[in-house]
Amino acid sequence: LSVKASSYADELVKTAKSIASPGRGILAMDESNATCGKRLDSIGLENTEANRQAYRTLLVSAPGLGQYVSGAILFEETLYQSTSDGKKMVDVLVEQNIMPGIKVDKGLVPLAGSNNESWCQGLDGLATRSAAYYQQGARFAKWRTVVSIPNGPSALAVKEAAWGLARYASISQDNGLVPIVEPEILLDGEHGIDRTFEVANKVWAEVFYYLTENNVMFEGILLKPSMVTPGAECRDRASPQQVAGYTLRLLRQRIPPAVPGIMFLSGGQSEVEATLNLNAMNQAPNPWHVSFSYARALQNTCLKTWGGRPENVQAAQETLLLRAKSNSLAQLGKYTE
Ligand code: 13P
Repeated sequence: LSVKASSYADELVKTAKSIASPGRGILAMDESNATCGKRLDSIGLENTEANRQAYRTLLVSAPGLGQYVSGAILFEETLYQSTSDGKKMVDVLVEQNIMPGIKVDKGLVPLAGSNNESWCQGLDGLATRSAAYYQQGARFAKWRTVVSIPNGPSALAVKEAAWGLARYASISQDNGLVPIVEPEILLDGEHGIDRTFEVANKVWAEVFYYLTENNVMFEGILLKPSMVTPGAECRDRASPQQVAGYTLRLLRQRIPPAVPGIMFLSGGQSEVEATLNLNAMNQAPNPWHVSFSYARALQNTCLKTWGGRPENVQAAQETLLLRAKSNSLAQLGKYTE
């Protein structure tokens, strides 16, 4: 552990534990301006700062959200932004007992020398940015890199993904931010669930190898894995019990119990599917807090219900709360359809 990270060690452990508290998970609302533009376009809205602000205001101020949500991941714009009625977004979250987090990666670009795969940028200047984000109220960070099964994955792409995550995690801890470690294994492809398991096993082995090499403190990180499912175009579908069985087997083989929280991404699953899969994973006690860090599976219906109309804000917030409450119950293994 580096000297500076050790000065934050107690705080990192506390932050991670509070995010991984029973019955709560993370609202991922950190879409980049480009991705947020696509979401707004789907409801016929222009991608302006005012529209992004109106939508994010709706999300952070949903009454009672903090009962089900312990952390919210923000894009940089939102971390420094005020709500439409002039309060700091960060302050609204803290009042709701929700910890603000920040997406710190700079996105994916082609990985030269690979099989059309990508790597994740953002290490240059990351220490300086992380210190500024902490000052601004962020207490955890997210770095999302991806691994593609149909395109390989090549040994080069897996190593690059794992190394980048480990450098980012170390720099985050050095600056007081709990790193969410997210190697997303993309759903795209015709492969079956066994192939996903095999790739995920290799990816997590390398991620933990490099986390250790970089002296990252496991008690002060959170993971954001993909669930182990068949490829999106695979004809054999898997039940929530099968997804839970494969995913938990993977976690038990690869993830030390010192890691406080496993916060799954939804990765294009439907809202109900994501809830059912999480619920199935929580039918028996786990060594870690197994929960959610969903974007689409919390927001899809909410966004559609809003449709950009002020008169629909309350109804939209109610749909967000319904998804958040359902996933909260699923975290406790108590969700019923
Ligand atoms: P989805 O839940 O929509 O996959 O998004 C989560 C996320 O933050 C991906 O990085």
